[in-house]
Amino acid sequence: MTIAAIIVAAGKGERAGASLPKQFVTVGGKTLLAHAVTALARHPRIERTVVVVAEGQKELAAHALGDILVDAIVIGGAERQQSVAAGMAAIGDARIVLIHDAARPFLPSSVVDRLIAALDTADGAIPALSVVDTLAKAGEELGDVVDRNGLIRVQTPQAFRAHAIRDAHNRWTGTAATDDAQMARAAGYQVAVVEGHAMLEKITQPADFAEAERKWNQRFISRTGLGYDVHRLAAGEDLWLCGLKIDHEKGLAGHSDADVALHALTDALLGALADGDIGTHFPPSDPQWRGAASHRFVEHAATLIRQAGGVIDHVDVTIICEAPKIGPHRDAMRSAVARMLAVPIKKVSIKATTTERLGFTGRGEGIAAQAAATIRLPEEE
Ligand code: CTP
Ligand code: MG
Repeated sequence: MTIAAIIVAAGKGERAGASLPKQFVTVGGKTLLAHAVTALARHPRIERTVVVVAEGQKELAAHALGDILVDAIVIGGAERQQSVAAGMAAIGDARIVLIHDAARPFLPSSVVDRLIAALDTADGAIPALSVVDTLAKAGEELGDVVDRNGLIRVQTPQAFRAHAIRDAHNRWTGTAATDDAQMARAAGYQVAVVEGHAMLEKITQPADFAEAERKWNQRFISRTGLGYDVHRLAAGEDLWLCGLKIDHEKGLAGHSDADVALHALTDALLGALADGDIGTHFPPSDPQWRGAASHRFVEHAATLIRQAGGVIDHVDVTIICEAPKIGPHRDAMRSAVARMLAVPIKKVSIKATTTERLGFTGRGEGIAAQAAATIRLPEEE
């Protein structure tokens, strides 16, 4: 049973007062549109996504979406209701459709689960929150209090059996409807109410952008990982440190290029993710890693963090050896590591220390490295 999602983004966003329609404004590093579409497109139950934009904004939308795949981008109308209708014409034979506002960028997958489950027994389902503030009529001055008991705040996405919402749209004769559930109800369909979410609040007024940014940042929890590695120094080997080949009388021996600093860093990144260590991802028994350039390990760990929706905040590497001197290479090393992680150089620290000629590092038998990585990962919804 195909489930489709329509994201309506054809409004002008007049009340938000931004220079662009609000769906193209960036919050948390992505446009509202990209957030809303990603949440639906990556949900395992949703197989088709249709984005509705205003005339002349297809390119803006395609740019905002970047590499997020959608099935169609279609042109909406002057009223939201017309934009939804345009989306519905593009969902093909989908049996269930979720209709969502791009102006509600943060959609927890649990809400989508609840909506789809509710359609087992209802024609439609909406997410809603209770009203906690006192409600009153207002004009020039305070008017009568309105009983908030039994009132709810209706959010999107709103989920429907596709035939029901098509029929409801066809039969609607009222003035422009601001959501679809009221049309479904007017046509006699039963609409269930499921628990909404504070993250789903709509962006309407200028101040809502800052509030959304705050909410976005609050989703993340900070995590730290540590890494440590040692490789033996031997004649006739190349010396790779932090992705640079350094001129030195000896080099590091190992299965890969033996870049001890990048190995410690990879383990720090994987540690912050709590996802095993370099050996579980790149087993030394696997011949494909023989002589491998270690930047690949770092890049892989960084990709895993991004795939988990995470952000790399900072890394700090300490190289422990008597020689070579690291100072002259520090900035080149920082740039190389920043490139691997796709972060600005100011988020990369490289330090070095000797061990006062004590121990294996002091005797020049090997080089050790330590690393710490601080990342942020989105909390489970
Ligand atoms: N929408 C739409 N087509 C319209 C009007 C609205 O697709 N003709 C979409 C908006 O892009 C938004 C959602 O419907 O994602 C909810 O509408 P609203 O918050 O009112 O957005 P705007 O109409 O853009 O804002 P405003 O009313 O302040 O101009
Ligand atoms: Mg509007």
